[in-house]
Amino acid sequence: MDEKHIPRHVAVVMDGNGRWAQKQKQKRIFGHQHAMTAVRETVEAGTELGVKYITLYTFSTENWNRPKEEVDGIMELLVRTIQSETPQLKKNGVRLEVIGDMGRLPELSREKLQGCMAETSGNDRLVLVLALSYSSRWEIGEAIRKMIAAGVKPEEIDEESIRPYLTTKDYPDPDLLIRTGGELRLSNFLLWQMAYTEFYFTEKLWPDFRKEDFRAAVEAFQGRQRRFGKTGEQK
Ligand code: IPE
Ligand code: IPE
Ligand code: MG
Repeated sequence: MDEKHIPRHVAVVMDGNGRWAQKQKQKRIFGHQHAMTAVRETVEAGTELGVKYITLYTFSTENWNRPKEEVDGIMELLVRTIQSETPQLKKNGVRLEVIGDMGRLPELSREKLQGCMAETSGNDRLVLVLALSYSSRWEIGEAIRKMIAAGVKPEEIDEESIRPYLTTKDYPDPDLLIRTGGELRLSNFLLWQMAYTEFYFTEKLWPDFRKEDFRAAVEAFQGRQRRFGKTGEQK
């Protein structure tokens, strides 16, 4: 591990909870219930390494189409988890933030999230961003709506003028994407922001993901040569 070459922002698609539960002949929600250890380990590993931002794909816009029982179970779990984890986040200098269509979340979830965000707002060791009721196409639609409402002119539109309208405006683009669960796709996650992100896929199901898996992903990242469209020799 090269301690001087740590990704600033790591994005994670936490996938495989349902399959993890099915393997044990349990209901899908059992897998979601066992996802917290992996979240904790990821945040701890990131903090120890000096990662500044971790964005977790927690619930997608499309996930609203799952059976009501599962959606309700996830929302309930969210409330309980935020409640139990806030002290640890405070202790570890982690700031919680949320991107996504918060208006679609149940009121109780929204209240708990806002409480945790307020309580951790002074922390700056690591920013933990939960993508909740988030999808990239929703975000881009929102950005366009806001730009039109603000009267932005066609000739003013470029990368830099679009950025302030994205939900991720305060964060650098992800350097590294980790997806567990073996699927090789983005599933509508940070499409704009991941233009030059390095991808790391693992078969591990999310409830089994541990610190050493996070470190392995960072090591793989360190072996990549990022060129951003230039030749390998150019600075
Ligand atoms: C990811 O695990 C968690 C959410 C999408 C909320 P899944 O629930 O998608 O698990 P699999 O992919 O069906 O195994
Ligand atoms: C992506 O996983 C969303 C989250 C991890 C929150 P999905 O399980 O929803 O993605 P697909 O349906 O396999 O593409
Ligand atoms: Mg899945």
